Amino acid sequence: MCGIVGAWLNQGGTENITDVLIEGLRTLEYRGYDSSGIGVLRTDIGSESSSSFVRIARRQGRLANLEEVLKDGSLQGANVGVGHTRWATHGEPSDGNAHPHTDGSNHIALVHNGIIENYLELRRELESEGVLFASETDTEVLTQLVGRAYGQTGDLAASLRLALRRVAGYYAVAVVGNQNGATELVCARQGPPLCIATLEDGAILASDVLALLPHTRDVTYLIDGDMAILKPGVISIERIDGEPGTSVEREVTHIDWDAEAASKSGYPHFMLKEIFEQPEVLGRAIFDRLKPLEGDVEFEGAGWTSAELNGIGRVQILACGTALHAGIVARYLIEGLARIPVEVDFASEYRYCDPVVSPGTLALAISQSGETADTLAAMRLARELGAQTMSICNVQGSTLTRDCGRNILTHAGPEIGVASTKAFTAQLIAAYLFALRLGRARGTIDETNGRKMIEELRHLRPKMEQLLTQEYSDSIRAIAKRHINAKGFLFLGRGVNYPIALEGALKLKEISYVHAEGYAAGEMKHGPIALIEPALTTLVINTEGRVADKVRSAIEQVKARGGPIIAVGSDPESQRLGEDVIDVPKTSEWLSPLLNVIPLQLFSYHFADLKGCDIDKPRNLAKSVTVE
Ligand code: AGP
Repeated sequence: MCGIVGAWLNQGGTENITDVLIEGLRTLEYRGYDSSGIGVLRTDIGSESSSSFVRIARRQGRLANLEEVLKDGSLQGANVGVGHTRWATHGEPSDGNAHPHTDGSNHIALVHNGIIENYLELRRELESEGVLFASETDTEVLTQLVGRAYGQTGDLAASLRLALRRVAGYYAVAVVGNQNGATELVCARQGPPLCIATLEDGAILASDVLALLPHTRDVTYLIDGDMAILKPGVISIERIDGEPGTSVEREVTHIDWDAEAASKSGYPHFMLKEIFEQPEVLGRAIFDRLKPLEGDVEFEGAGWTSAELNGIGRVQILACGTALHAGIVARYLIEGLARIPVEVDFASEYRYCDPVVSPGTLALAISQSGETADTLAAMRLARELGAQTMSICNVQGSTLTRDCGRNILTHAGPEIGVASTKAFTAQLIAAYLFALRLGRARGTIDETNGRKMIEELRHLRPKMEQLLTQEYSDSIRAIAKRHINAKGFLFLGRGVNYPIALEGALKLKEISYVHAEGYAAGEMKHGPIALIEPALTTLVINTEGRVADKVRSAIEQVKARGGPIIAVGSDPESQRLGEDVIDVPKTSEWLSPLLNVIPLQLFSYHFADLKGCDIDKPRNLAKSVTVE
């Protein structure tokens, strides 16, 4: 998710606007981004002075690249501005596509988080009026729309309101402008969060309260449809669809988080924070790795050459627990996309089964911590038997990454909750990217299909964010409550979603201590069907695709025996069969595990919370099992 900051400081105050904006963006880096920028202006100079015009600095890559540009002092002396960290959805990561955007008049700078769904229609309208666009982004279309009205009216708040009434999509947006010596700083929200606050010597806004805390603990969260006009010490909140000048009241919240709560960003548990962090993790996990034009990917550091990848004849995946479930998904992806045979073994079993390693075998370890004793030992054995080694791991410098010849880091950030969530989805992303790379190197995926796979991945994030709203989470909590007295749970899935059934069962049992079992849906009739009764709830994962009708028959079998069904996924027929339904947006079959696992994570979280369990530190469990 992109990060937005904005501030207006009294001229001659103690703080420098570029420092305030950069520091604010730094607190938002965790959200994942591919470029950043700031736009500032000075308010105490007459309208014709060049300093009253907006000045912009933008850079692709890390924040440090932007700070390097600012060293020339060209943006010094300003006292109002906006800043942004960008996660690309429309237009590849580049300086020119980075925010802020202007309309070419240098009277405004606009930053935006979200998607303008009707941007192409609006772009064509503006181009028909002679507007020339400098970037590929949907955000520039919004900027030009605002700029067109601003140039006619000189009223930035009215211009933003007018533009947003034309927009379909979701957004958090902030814009700073100056015309005829009048400066305005305005923001609005429809979807992604925005919070604002007045300061002794100014006013400030941001996507995340963490960016405000260094300045104040008294903040106001805008709600959907709000817009706010900020001046030093004064904020007016109005409605986008309301009358100009008609203000509305919003509660001021005092944030009294301690350091740990701040690190939980206000969530009651690390696990919930990490579940909600997954869209940002997606951003970080693919940052700088996509090559959309070639329909390929490139891993940072010592990547594989295509010749080396072509030398791989078999993949042996070794892992434990949740990481093993990621390994089973990886197997479906690599066999399905790169057509290489894959075996997946519990690391703890592999060590003692006298394995046979054929020439050209790649041993692939998957591990969040990189310190799991069984995984380390199994990988050492595989190397001794002649396998090449590689890891998918979250901790750079861990024993595993030092032991392996090559590593794909998952960039999930520190995972505190013992029950793995964001690290798991990050492992799935790494596996998807590796299968794509393998397939492109071996020619089993052509450029067209590679581009399609990348486009599907780049549009996954808004779909993930649909699953991570308070409303969606509350709906899952209500379902968990209805099944709180079940004597046990069966999770069924098929194909690439079979390991998601295993993962959903593991999540539930490890934090709520209730018995839960994951099973291949096609196997249910070979035994587990004997368990079916009203006291046993069955969660069935089903997405539209080649096994959907087979999974539906498993649902019918459960229903025929009086077993309650929770239907999870995008298959409408399955949803008609379920007493409870957890809807999931459609995506490609290969990416469906990344979406289907999220409601199962939320289900286990709420079930355990309703039972009063210790969610972040479940009994008997350690975050990393460094002993046998
Ligand atoms: C997952 O929720 C558990 N905490 C556990 O199964 C974990 O996945 C397993 O111990 C492997 O840990 P690793 O990924 O750090 O190797």
